[in-house]
Amino acid sequence: MKLIIDDAHIDQIKEIYEFYPVDGVTTNPTILAKSGRKPYDVLKEIRAFIGKEAELHVQVVAKDAAGMVEDAHRILEELGKNTYVKIPSVPEGFKAMKMLSKEGVNLTATAIYTPMQAFLAAKAGASYAAPYINRIDNMGYDGVAIAQHIHDIFRKNNLNAEVLAASFKNSQQMLDLAEYGVGAATASPDVIFALVKNEAITSAINVFISDFEKLVGVGKTMKDC
Ligand code: E4P
Repeated sequence: MKLIIDDAHIDQIKEIYEFYPVDGVTTNPTILAKSGRKPYDVLKEIRAFIGKEAELHVQVVAKDAAGMVEDAHRILEELGKNTYVKIPSVPEGFKAMKMLSKEGVNLTATAIYTPMQAFLAAKAGASYAAPYINRIDNMGYDGVAIAQHIHDIFRKNNLNAEVLAASFKNSQQMLDLAEYGVGAATASPDVIFALVKNEAITSAINVFISDFEKLVGVGKTMKDC
């Protein structure tokens, strides 16, 4: 399962890249709005940092298929042909996906709450389908189970698409999907920083260090003895 950052703050992206094995960045219009900066300024900065080959997912904003296709062309022009264009999984979106997939554009179907949306998006040519795990949970359904159903539907129908699970609020949701082997998960910096935040881990490491220092001296490590 790929691990992707769902954010547009370059400092946080850099910090996560320094410490974690991540595979790219996803954004949406709300995330861009939170940056408070011009969209393409932020996105170009992210692209320059993660590199030309890394996955960057950028969403169209137009409401109709023709406008979505125009948004997609501008996104690719500004950010490179391998950028994944995120398209909402509604009828106008499916129409745009069919048009753009014929051009070979990488597509991520987004705003997915039901397996049927994902099925139709994959048939329309999307490479990824992004179910919103936590938002689905908040509606009283099971977001992880819906993502698993989508994964199975893709496999059983030989569809060339993967789940890109989104909207996480905790690491258990992410772990359940890693165990199932879905294609990717994208999470906010807060969720990523909390993945291994655990008093037991910190305490175990501190005991190792203090025991060793008792043996060889404070501040000394394996290179000093
Ligand atoms: C993914 O495509 C969405 O843009 C995003 O992950 C939604 O996350 P949220 O529910 O935390 O806003």
